[in-house]
Amino acid sequence: MNDARKRAGITALGAYAPPKIVTNADLEAIMDTSDEWITTRTGIRRRHVAADDEFTSDLAFRSVEDLLRRHGDHALNGVDMVIVATNTPDALFPATAALVQERFKLRAGAFDLLAACPGWIYALGTAKAFVESGQCNKVLAIGAEALTKVVDWEDRSTAVLFGDGAGAALVEGVPEPYGIKSMVLGADGSGAHLLHMRAIGRCLPNGAELGKHMTMNGREVFKFAVRVMDTATVQAVAEAGLVPDDISLFVPHQANLRIIDAARERLRLPPERVVVTVDEYGNNSTASIPLALAHALDGGRIAPGDNLLIVSFGGGLTWAASVLTWGPWAEARRA
Ligand code: ACO
Repeated sequence: MNDARKRAGITALGAYAPPKIVTNADLEAIMDTSDEWITTRTGIRRRHVAADDEFTSDLAFRSVEDLLRRHGDHALNGVDMVIVATNTPDALFPATAALVQERFKLRAGAFDLLAACPGWIYALGTAKAFVESGQCNKVLAIGAEALTKVVDWEDRSTAVLFGDGAGAALVEGVPEPYGIKSMVLGADGSGAHLLHMRAIGRCLPNGAELGKHMTMNGREVFKFAVRVMDTATVQAVAEAGLVPDDISLFVPHQANLRIIDAARERLRLPPERVVVTVDEYGNNSTASIPLALAHALDGGRIAPGDNLLIVSFGGGLTWAASVLTWGPWAEARRA
């Protein structure tokens, strides 16, 4: 099937969060913080943390294994491109995606994509373009993150926020009326100094030093997030030819409950139409939306024909939002 006229859509999903859990009480024991501060400021109660010898590729593998458990061993047949969106690749090269290609013996191209937390939506957008142009038939788009390995555990303002996990989706041509209806991808590098981590370079263009660990100006990122969640969601809904009331389920990036609530209120959506997992997982960046989607699927909250609105923001600064109409493969819940 290589029908360039077909709209691309997600046809399978899998997700994984490592079993090790760190609660707010555990953090109280190692740093000057409190459960009360963390829950009221962020909504986070626990986060799942990768084992010492578990890295982003391992989390990515596990999410694909979950996809196979849900959809059967044949699900990866015909995958011709693997994209791993991550901020914490095992190595700068080889791409973590190449490790996935080898692990599942796929005859596919493979590359990593870095766009901070919106990376998985960027990967979906890339997959959509590959499929709808006819370049690819079936793309495996993964968001995988081992962020707890790069946070500074002595910096309470960031250490309490992040967790680890992964999610994987297959993107291919789907029949009407399903598929990815809009894709909004944006960036504003003038805010690069607000959220960053060193790789090879020494400093940012404005002279700000890149730290060894992730560094964030939380207050400024918060203001940016509230603003961009509003504008990007409004644009994504309009470009899909819909109005907010057509949205069956809002699945925002899980960074902070106050940011999620602000976005939901701007869209005038009732709480039951929003997926919240930040209490359980914290912010696991590119994994946050596929994990939240899997959580909603397993809870029976997604049905065929539902219009899902996803949105994310992060370092770059970057943002992304999309509306997708879910297909009849919704019943592929975790056994
Ligand atoms: N425990 C206790 N106190 C703390 C903690 C903590 N873990 N962290 C900070 N504080 C203190 C600060 O020191 C400050 O104390 P002071 O007033 O004596 O100076 C006080 O709490 C308030 O700090 P603020 O930073 O102003 O707190 P704020 O209400 O802004 O909440 C937070 C901070 C939660 C980080 C918020 O700004 C936020 O969520 N920002 C967005 C972050 C985000 O979503 N990032 C996503 C990045 S995604 C990616 O690309 C990786």
